Amino acid sequence: MLKIENLCKSFGGVVATSDVSIHFPKDSLHAVIGPNGAGKTTFFNLISGAITPDSGRIVLDGENIVGLPSTAIVRKGIGRAFQVAKLFKTLTVEESLRGALMSPQGTSAQMYGRFPLAQTRDRAFEVMEQLGLHTKANVVSGNLSHGDQKLLDMALALVLKPKVLLLDEPVAGMGPEEREQMIETVYALWKKGGLTLVLIEHDMEIVFRISQNIHVLSYGKVLAEGNPEQIRNNPAVIEAYLGKPQEAHA
Ligand SMILES: Nc1ncnc2c1ncn2[C@@H]1O[C@H](COP(=O)(O)OP(=O)(O)O)[C@@H](O)[C@H]1O
Ligand SMILES: [Mg+2]
Repeated sequence: MLKIENLCKSFGGVVATSDVSIHFPKDSLHAVIGPNGAGKTTFFNLISGAITPDSGRIVLDGENIVGLPSTAIVRKGIGRAFQVAKLFKTLTVEESLRGALMSPQGTSAQMYGRFPLAQTRDRAFEVMEQLGLHTKANVVSGNLSHGDQKLLDMALALVLKPKVLLLDEPVAGMGPEEREQMIETVYALWKKGGLTLVLIEHDMEIVFRISQNIHVLSYGKVLAEGNPEQIRNNPAVIEAYLGKPQEAHA
């Protein structure tokens, strides 16, 4: 479905992505983990077309999408939510979602006037209900809680019905209750089917609980790959990242 092949990217002397190859099968739930500066966000920037790799291929359903503008990549079905939510702070939740639907390039697009089409309203409410944002349809985005801003950022990607959804630290900065709610929402979204989900996350309890497969990045390289059990007990991963063997969670 999504195959990353020998991807490389350097910034000056910093090798952020070093010969990374990862296969994300259709409808799987993957996590990408690793220490700060390991190259996780860069990896998403490469897939989403925000930056161009120095070499390597990003193959979506058989097509190499390297070099396509990020707008085209969104249209091909790769959606993304950001480590720091990118929102139209002065628009309401509903307006933001309808705006994303009306724009040719998804979330980061220029907006077109008003959004009169009934379809955009229906789709916006469908996604708001899915994420539990429907009671806040008329709230101005800048006034949402931190957790709801992260949800809206995810909603802006989801509203375009992506095949692949990239989530960069969806629970970052959240309290325990908000975090639990967010992770349940994300898991339910994936469980419903039809979505390949790739998650960057620091909270190992969450990663081990919901991921099918995990890739560990360290200094831009894939250090290890496996299911939660394998990763939890991998000596190289414990050494580079986990510190000590992690408790098992159901
Ligand atoms: N646009 C950029 N210009 C220069 N260096 C960058 C840029 N983006 C990332 N880097 C560097 O690449 C490395 C990986 O960063 P990043 O992908 O943000 O890591 P992570 O998300 O795993 O914390 C870091 O050393 C970072 O400073
Ligand atoms: Mg990051």
